[in-house]
Amino acid sequence: MDGNGRWARGRALPRTEGHREGALRVRGIAEACIDIGISTLTVFAFSTENWDRPHDEVDVLMALIPERLAAERATIFNNDVRIRVLGEIESLPLADRVAVRTIVRQTVKHQALTLNIAFNYGGRSEILRAVRNLMRDGIAPEDVSEDLFASYLYTSDIPDPDLVIRTAGEQRLSNFLIWQAAYAEFYSTPTLWPDFTRDEFDKALATYRQRERKFGRVADQPRVVSDLISG
Ligand code: FPP
Repeated sequence: MDGNGRWARGRALPRTEGHREGALRVRGIAEACIDIGISTLTVFAFSTENWDRPHDEVDVLMALIPERLAAERATIFNNDVRIRVLGEIESLPLADRVAVRTIVRQTVKHQALTLNIAFNYGGRSEILRAVRNLMRDGIAPEDVSEDLFASYLYTSDIPDPDLVIRTAGEQRLSNFLIWQAAYAEFYSTPTLWPDFTRDEFDKALATYRQRERKFGRVADQPRVVSDLISG
């Protein structure tokens, strides 16, 4: 969700106001997903690298998640939205941690949309965490398959992303779902995140629909052998 700082600077506001505005924007995109039938939306709210930002900015970013979840509680429940967190929330104050864990638990059966909030998340640290847990579980090297490895990631029970959208003209993955996004389509737009409207989202989806996804194969080749047999 890049461009919050630039959005604020363009209005002579503190950067933190850009984050507040950006946090409001998540609602519109989540509603659009439900509308369209997209089952999973993941937003990168705070990276393991964001700790290096000025203290007041970190404080605002820390407070925003519990704040927005409380403000949107009724909407989350009325719209059957499941909340999940990818990353470690230990850094949040106890009351906020409890509030986040509570809403994660209470929405576990919701089905219209899974909203993953990547918080204190980094793809590399997620992979290291998976490796450590595999070793702790005493898994033999020859038993480590891609599926088993993926089951040790935060995203164990959700599909890999089909589309990664990066706003504010950035063209990098920046440690976001680096394992899971291996075959995701990438879309970059100069639009700043707080200006990322439903129209902008529709544009991204229209571009995605035109992409030919080959997953390393040649065009028109069936995806799996069973397709070949049944086709
Ligand atoms: C990057 O923009 C944005 C962030 C580091 C934080 C984004 C977090 C939110 C919008 C809060 C999300 C809240 C919920 C409830 C999911 P930037 O600061 O790098 O902007 P710049 O590139 O213009 O400086």
